[in-house]
Amino acid sequence: MCGIIGINSNKPVSATIINSLKKLEYRGYDSAGIATLSSGLINEIKSEGRVDNLEKNSLVQNMEGTIGIGHVRWATHGSPNSINAHPHSSQNVSVVHNGIIENSTLLKKFLVSKGHKFKSQTDTEVIVHLITENLKTENIVSSIKKTLKSLHGSFALGIIFKDQPDLIVGARRGSPLAVGYGPNENYLGSDSYALKSMTNKITYLNDGEFCVIKKDQVEFFNEEGIKINKKVLEVSSEEKKYEKGDYKHFMAKEIEEQPTTLKNGINEYLDNSNNNINIYNFPWKTKDISSITLVGCGTAYHSCLMAKYWFEEITTMDVNVDIASEFRYRKNRFKKETLYIFVSQSGETADTYAALDLCKKNGMKTCAVVNVVESSIARESEFVLPIHCGTEIGVASTKAFLGQILILYIFSLKLGLLRNDLKKDVFIQKLKDLKELPKLVKQTLLTDNKIQTITKTFNEAKGSMFLGRGFSYPIALEGALKLKELSYVHAEGYPAGEMKHGPLALIEEGMPVVVLAPRDNHYKKTISNMQEVIARGAKVLLITNKSKDEIVSENIWETIEVESTNEDLLPFLLTIPLQKLAYYSALKKGFDIDKPRNLAKSVTVE
Ligand code: M6R
Repeated sequence: MCGIIGINSNKPVSATIINSLKKLEYRGYDSAGIATLSSGLINEIKSEGRVDNLEKNSLVQNMEGTIGIGHVRWATHGSPNSINAHPHSSQNVSVVHNGIIENSTLLKKFLVSKGHKFKSQTDTEVIVHLITENLKTENIVSSIKKTLKSLHGSFALGIIFKDQPDLIVGARRGSPLAVGYGPNENYLGSDSYALKSMTNKITYLNDGEFCVIKKDQVEFFNEEGIKINKKVLEVSSEEKKYEKGDYKHFMAKEIEEQPTTLKNGINEYLDNSNNNINIYNFPWKTKDISSITLVGCGTAYHSCLMAKYWFEEITTMDVNVDIASEFRYRKNRFKKETLYIFVSQSGETADTYAALDLCKKNGMKTCAVVNVVESSIARESEFVLPIHCGTEIGVASTKAFLGQILILYIFSLKLGLLRNDLKKDVFIQKLKDLKELPKLVKQTLLTDNKIQTITKTFNEAKGSMFLGRGFSYPIALEGALKLKELSYVHAEGYPAGEMKHGPLALIEEGMPVVVLAPRDNHYKKTISNMQEVIARGAKVLLITNKSKDEIVSENIWETIEVESTNEDLLPFLLTIPLQKLAYYSALKKGFDIDKPRNLAKSVTVE
């Protein structure tokens, strides 16, 4: 998953390309590169690491050319070095690519037999040579059409040509791509966010389409190379600057912002005057929905799992959850009465998008829970529930997780009420409690010092485990994911009751184990499971909620008590110390907290 940008202008483009690449870094930050056309030649400059490295290169600062393409990379084929960085160029053609070419090995064999020489280990380079080969006999449009037909897999492409000083080609299959329109210049970009500082007039390419971008005109083609008309959309021109302020990292800021982002979400959906929930323009009758399937990846999948517990508790609907990369390839029994909910912060995750696409092709009811409302998943879903938590920069999702589970909780209450599964007075009490949540999160955020002192144990251990039952189980998974992605230490989330079926064998003297045991229905059982790990030498960090009842257990290493509220809402509070544990562990190790190694904020390849 990578980010691509292209600009065709009558002014020099390199500085603007660099600025746009900075906005696309959430898609990948292994390496970056730029290519422009000047004096009839393709100039290509690439560097390992962040866009900052590329920008510092004095050659980039003096780079000429009024037409160019740029790229940020998340390595798929070939290690993340400057040779494998994009653009990839022959003498005649330069290409940036987001996606994976699945038949690259076969194509390379064919191209080598024709005398083409390869410089990198990437799949992308075959595209460069295929176009170069096809251009020997075809014009631009038919060489592109022919090239695209030979490619298997997914791609968004930006292409410039040595002999075409006023032309960028863009093409899309699977990976998102947008065209932007400016005064005497036009653009190509992976998303509207990258284009926003230049324009709010956007056209999104659909799968199979390609386009030819000139300074004063853009032409669109379908996969047969036939010209088509496309709509120009106006996206919001608001370009909010989101800065770290006094925080060391965006993640720290995003954790601390959660009381505010939750409040925003609550204010968007709760109708205080009528004690109700406003969900406008819901396109289906509730009687036509008897089950729900929630689909997501990573943290968003944990939100789906959390929602399953709430939907099952609050409504009488059947609820299924699935990891998008599994869902999309299984033989699903699609059911008309099922509502399919796709959860994604970015709204661009390739697997989640593909799962949505599959549901649409099968005529299912589709709903998106997203943060980025202009994203592909939001645009393609029939109904959208935005989470309203603002830009999230840290690769490790924090405020978006609480935002997702908040909206899913609100949605479960609304459906519960509409279906008469939930009594009005219970519903009203739950809304009342919900309104208190931001305040409780704020208080829970104050538990800080204790977490800082215990991180050493987690960092020095071979691994750690996170255990929970019921509502706390998805939170245990999320806590473990946060720790491993930021601190690069092994951490596993498990249902506490499952330990004795295998994982208990991992417990040894001094191993840190986080036990989530709020005073809910599962409390006693979880405490028993906790005793089982303590008996085998584990150092237990117990996270529970404040209560007048003493904790009846001995030999607990450390205890953190979050605020108290109704059982439904405890998962929000339990999440906070886990986010901080991951943050401080990584901080102590001096790791790059906002951009952990090998990851990207938005995963646009499968
Ligand atoms: O943008 P999405 O919510 O679809 O992203 C899904 C996952 O890639 C994401 O939640 C990932 O697991 C986070 N890095 C976790 O902190």
